[in-house]
Amino acid sequence: MIITDNIERLIAADEIALRVTTLAEEIIQKLPNDLMIVSLLRGSFVFTADLIRALHTAGGGNMRPQVDFMTLASYGSGTTSSGDIQVARDLKDDVEGRDVLIVDDILESGRTLTYAKEIIIARKARSVKIAVLLEKPGKRKVDNISADFVGFVIPDKFVIGYGLDYANYYRELPYIGVITIN
Ligand code: IMP
Ligand code: MG
Repeated sequence: MIITDNIERLIAADEIALRVTTLAEEIIQKLPNDLMIVSLLRGSFVFTADLIRALHTAGGGNMRPQVDFMTLASYGSGTTSSGDIQVARDLKDDVEGRDVLIVDDILESGRTLTYAKEIIIARKARSVKIAVLLEKPGKRKVDNISADFVGFVIPDKFVIGYGLDYANYYRELPYIGVITIN
């Protein structure tokens, strides 16, 4: 494959690492030790992997999160997310009575996280909070959805890396970049 896409670095790997550390410190101030983390695949797997280890460190070994994964699919692909969302792969575990932290890569229109939060509430979680690595302001299509923990607020550009993809490529980049597709 010849790569002709143009990638401009937006957030360096070491900046991400620092922010994940401080985010973990914010999370341990507000949430209990026996968190149930619901990581939304695929975009959040890298962030989730770093966040749980940062929680361990920030909590001095007292945090004991459990982790489960869910894949939500919205129809359509490319650089815009469309309206209809479905559960493509569900959680394995029951969230009833649990303090849930939903972890996602990016909050854009808010549709994905609104849907995820509704599911977790309907399943009678004790509490539901949201952590996202990135937030694009001014793009919200759904009212009343916000993240409780936000890593970085970024400009309204399509970004890749650190788990985020374009057509399922670029998830392996250690940094976040803005991509211009040629
Ligand atoms: P929302 O439902 O519009 O808030 O979109 C959230 C989902 O769209 C994220 O979980 C990502 O999978 C995807 N997404 C939104 N913006 C970007 C981006 O800039 N790069 C890569 N994926 C994105
Ligand atoms: Mg996603």
